Amino acid sequence: MILIKTADEIELMRESNLLVSLTLAELAKFIKPGVSTERLDQIAEAFIRDHGAVPGFLGYQGYPKTLCTSVNSEVVHGIPSEKVILKEGDQLSVDCGVVKNGFYGDTAFSFEVGEVSAEVRRLLDITRECLQKGVEQAVEGKRIGDIGNAVQNHAESMGYTVVREMVGHGLGRHLHEAPEVPNYGRRGTGPKLKKGMVICIEPMINMGRRQIKQDPDGWTIRTADKKPSAHFEWAVAIDKGKADVLSTFSYIDDELLKQSK
Ligand code: MF3
Ligand code: CO
Ligand code: CO
Repeated sequence: MILIKTADEIELMRESNLLVSLTLAELAKFIKPGVSTERLDQIAEAFIRDHGAVPGFLGYQGYPKTLCTSVNSEVVHGIPSEKVILKEGDQLSVDCGVVKNGFYGDTAFSFEVGEVSAEVRRLLDITRECLQKGVEQAVEGKRIGDIGNAVQNHAESMGYTVVREMVGHGLGRHLHEAPEVPNYGRRGTGPKLKKGMVICIEPMINMGRRQIKQDPDGWTIRTADKKPSAHFEWAVAIDKGKADVLSTFSYIDDELLKQSK
């Protein structure tokens, strides 16, 4: 069953996703060569608690941390660790969740560590465009397959592949609600989108082949061919004519722009 959120509930979900967006922007200040992903996790947890919320992933199905930090060929669900020290040229997907006022926020951004290669930069740019293409389809009257189709078309037209096993999802009082939101699919198929549905659109796009493997840690998903993978995620509320995006990258973009000046 796909739950419909009231306008008031959507405002609470905007608050939750805004806090995740702010947390990611705070992390942007620290994502540099030499920092451990464990340190980033500590910063995020403190920031979230200071803002009257609790980490959304910590304890979820036994997950041990606040963030998922996935480096280079890691697709998603990389576990923060003091053993993982970021280095120049790495690419880092940070996925963060909170619960505030009973509602989840869930948003992810792929960062450059120092300067990345031109080919990794392109993967990040195109994956972010894939998210945008998906969001453009997230309007009342369209179907879930329209979103996946838009993401897949863009990725594949650029020579990339789409991870199939992991999908986006509904979001609300639970981290993962119906419907599933695949990043591939056929136009005009799947559940119909209605005003008040809230979904996470989260393309996971690979530079090489689409196949993935899970590490023995039971969480980390990486590309089977060890080539880079990127991941961006927004929570969006379905509305008439245009999606109401509850997450934002503007705080991150502002921080990164500040750093580049
Ligand atoms: N944030 C992931 C998603 O976007 C789910 C992470 S679950 C965790 O759906 F347990 F790994 F945190
Ligand atoms: Co997420
Ligand atoms: Co998600």
